[in-house]
Amino acid sequence: MKQRGVTVWFTGFSGAGKTTITNALVEELKNQQFDIEVLDGDIIRENLTKDLGFSKEDRDTNIRRIGFVAQLLTRHGVIVLVPVISPYRALREEMRKKIGDFVEVFVNAPLAVCEDRDVKGLYKKARAGEIKQFTGIDDPYEPPLNPDIECRTDKEDVAECVAKVMNKLQELGYIA
Ligand code: PPS
Ligand code: ADP
Ligand code: MG
Repeated sequence: MKQRGVTVWFTGFSGAGKTTITNALVEELKNQQFDIEVLDGDIIRENLTKDLGFSKEDRDTNIRRIGFVAQLLTRHGVIVLVPVISPYRALREEMRKKIGDFVEVFVNAPLAVCEDRDVKGLYKKARAGEIKQFTGIDDPYEPPLNPDIECRTDKEDVAECVAKVMNKLQELGYIA
């Protein structure tokens, strides 16, 4: 029987751990021979949405294009992992409605922790005013009110976060 598709949508600040958890999940799911695809904001913005910046309008367009691709893949039985900041609640809800098979993961760490990690040096640049409209610094982030899963990455390690997602996918019948 063909696998049921699902989009797993990871939202959170830059540096919260979206990409790290996604990559660890890919390893875990690969071992179980699932069809999987990753639509990571950083990579999508290099390719599909290179024309877009970080205004609300451009972020919304970015999310809608990513959601469109996720919808096509989900429909074809793929487990689609989508680590994108997606700061606006309304757009995430729009994606949930559109895609249907949709699991929202709130990748949550306090801004101060993300800033302290400063994985790519972007917070330093944002504080120095070299990058404008940086999420959490001078641009909004609307946390999910009722996420399917919350990972507190300042308190839970990567393995715990991966296990939470795997358990939820099992519980919902997407994976065996
Ligand atoms: S969004 O809001 O969902 O459209 O953003 P996304 O496509 O996920 O892109 C986020 C990545 O872009 C880098 N970056 C910025 N993030 C937030 N705000 C500003 N101004 C910004 N400029 C560049 C950053 O590497 C983000 O990736 P992550 O993995 O979240 O750190
Ligand atoms: P994002 O894609 O959300 O910007 P990254 O995955 O690039 O975030 O960076 C997250 C950073 O936090 C990495 O350096 C990672 O090693 C660290 N980290 C610590 N604990 C966790 C956890 N539980 N889950 C994910 N990342 C974690
Ligand atoms: Mg990332």
